[in-house]
Amino acid sequence: MSQYIWRKRIINVKFRKANLDDLNRISKIDELFSKNTMGKCFLENEIRNSDISTIYLLENKNDLIGFLIIRINDMKAEIVNFVIDLKFQNKGFGSKLLSNVIKDLKIKSVKSIKLDVRKKNIIARNLYEKKGFERLGINKSYYLDDDALIYIRYL
Ligand SMILES: CC(C)(COP(=O)(O)OP(=O)(O)OC[C@H]1O[C@@H](n2cnc3c(N)ncnc32)[C@H](O)[C@@H]1OP(=O)(O)O)[C@@H](O)C(=O)NCCC(=O)NCCS
Repeated sequence: MSQYIWRKRIINVKFRKANLDDLNRISKIDELFSKNTMGKCFLENEIRNSDISTIYLLENKNDLIGFLIIRINDMKAEIVNFVIDLKFQNKGFGSKLLSNVIKDLKIKSVKSIKLDVRKKNIIARNLYEKKGFERLGINKSYYLDDDALIYIRYL
């Protein structure tokens, strides 16, 4: 548990792994703020397939601040989705969630973290670059309306 200033008050923030009881709250944020939502069934499968997938959460009491989905294959991790609820954005929570995930993956001896991000998504690209991710390549027209940049961070 750590403390943050949010809207001029101190809030307690908890980092943990999601379980099926969190599904509705995760799905709500996913549908509202994720450009590539894969739906509730997808999220449920990610929680159930805990041998390859983990949904990490940041929360304040009953408020879900955000979530980050990681899949691991052959000790290499991939960020499948990463969303911070709008009212908590741009206050350091995305950075905090990603740092905690990196710590957990290091403990598991994971070797690298890879991800795709829209070229136009400057906020996310700034965050990844600040956290030490390097550009690995580009997937032209990967999205209907944009290219995808591929980033990697070795742990
Ligand atoms: C991308 C996202 C997860 C970042 O979370 P966040 O909590 O808002 O980010 P933080 O407040 O921790 O900011 C971390 C860094 O991101 C960058 N950043 C954040 N807001 C920014 C803004 N409005 N403009 C430019 N860069 C910004 C900065 O580099 C910032 O570091 P700094 O504060 O030291 O300058 C969040 O904006 C989000 O959920 N976006 C919608 C979904 C999405 O695009 N997900 C990424 C998929 S790959």
